[in-house]
Amino acid sequence: MSTTKPTIFSGVQPSGNLTIANYIGAISKWVEIQNDYNSIFCIVDLHAITVAQDPQVINNRIIEITKHYLACGINPNKSTIFQQSNVSEHAELGWILNCTTARMSDLKKMTQFKDKVGDKQDNVSVGLFDYPVLMAADILLYNTDSVPVGDDQVQHVELCRDLAKRFNNTYGEVFTIPNVIIRKEGARIMSLDDPQKKMSKSSSVATSYIGLLDNPQEAVKKIMRATTDTETIIKYDKKNKPGISNLLTIYSILSEKSIKQLEKDYSGKGYGDFKKDLAVVVKDFLTAYQQRYNSYTDDQIKQILKSGAEKLRPIANATLAKVKEKVGFSI
Ligand code: AQP
Repeated sequence: MSTTKPTIFSGVQPSGNLTIANYIGAISKWVEIQNDYNSIFCIVDLHAITVAQDPQVINNRIIEITKHYLACGINPNKSTIFQQSNVSEHAELGWILNCTTARMSDLKKMTQFKDKVGDKQDNVSVGLFDYPVLMAADILLYNTDSVPVGDDQVQHVELCRDLAKRFNNTYGEVFTIPNVIIRKEGARIMSLDDPQKKMSKSSSVATSYIGLLDNPQEAVKKIMRATTDTETIIKYDKKNKPGISNLLTIYSILSEKSIKQLEKDYSGKGYGDFKKDLAVVVKDFLTAYQQRYNSYTDDQIKQILKSGAEKLRPIANATLAKVKEKVGFSI
């Protein structure tokens, strides 16, 4: 790995059908910047099991998410792709951070946990509550400078910064303090059926998201059915027109046209025309995407994951060795 470039680290959970929100909010950004960094992209399977997973399904999904990375444009010759559970230092550092720096009061502030479980906290896994500490370990093991994520993960990266600073202050300098990288537009893509909620890959409502492997014709129907407001003007106004603003963002990123340009193009036209054109953009995007996705074999993917883990283990191990020495485990 080049030592002159700064490092980025990010990941996706193999926990559902990857959506255009994961692509727009996170992975397309990774693709854009992968050449400027030592880029490390993880399939975060230890995070996925914070909610119940069928072993056979998650096993297949690890392969699928890796195919998605490649289909999105991650170049395995330039970026390192690996499976989290193949580098056991993640779980080990997670435990040490749990005990030395993370506090219950930190985790109780995490909005993603509160949004996911509501008042059913007693019945969820301890891991779901503790997930941000493992995420901090993921990031800190590789001396990461920046973490490109969607808006819902920003609070977790901020916690990671706090834990790293706390550890360094208590035990002496070990960790690089990472920054967050977030898209200006598209950092939070909303559900098609309810633009107040974020689009989520584990949603049980199939019409709420566009899956990257959705049948393109079905995706057209989902766009045509997407919730908009009662006005008919095509204008970006997140507060008063969240539905059309969300569709404008999706259109803008997939077509590489600015939102301003789209507003101009659709001035005087109605939602019907706009949605029809967006549906074609989405259909064409998915068709080309799925061709790329289907061009990779499982064996190719397994090889990429194996060599990724082999490359990263020594780096993770070196960081963990420093941590162990600081906490008094160096005998
Ligand atoms: N709606 C979204 N808009 C923009 N970015 C998003 N991301 C997720 N949802 C949106 C970003 O995608 C990356 C991978 O997400 P993850 O696998 O860590 O899971 P998540 O953040 O919990 O996202 P999901 O899709 O809602 O997954 P489930 O339903 O499994 O929990 C992250 O960078 C995330 O910010």
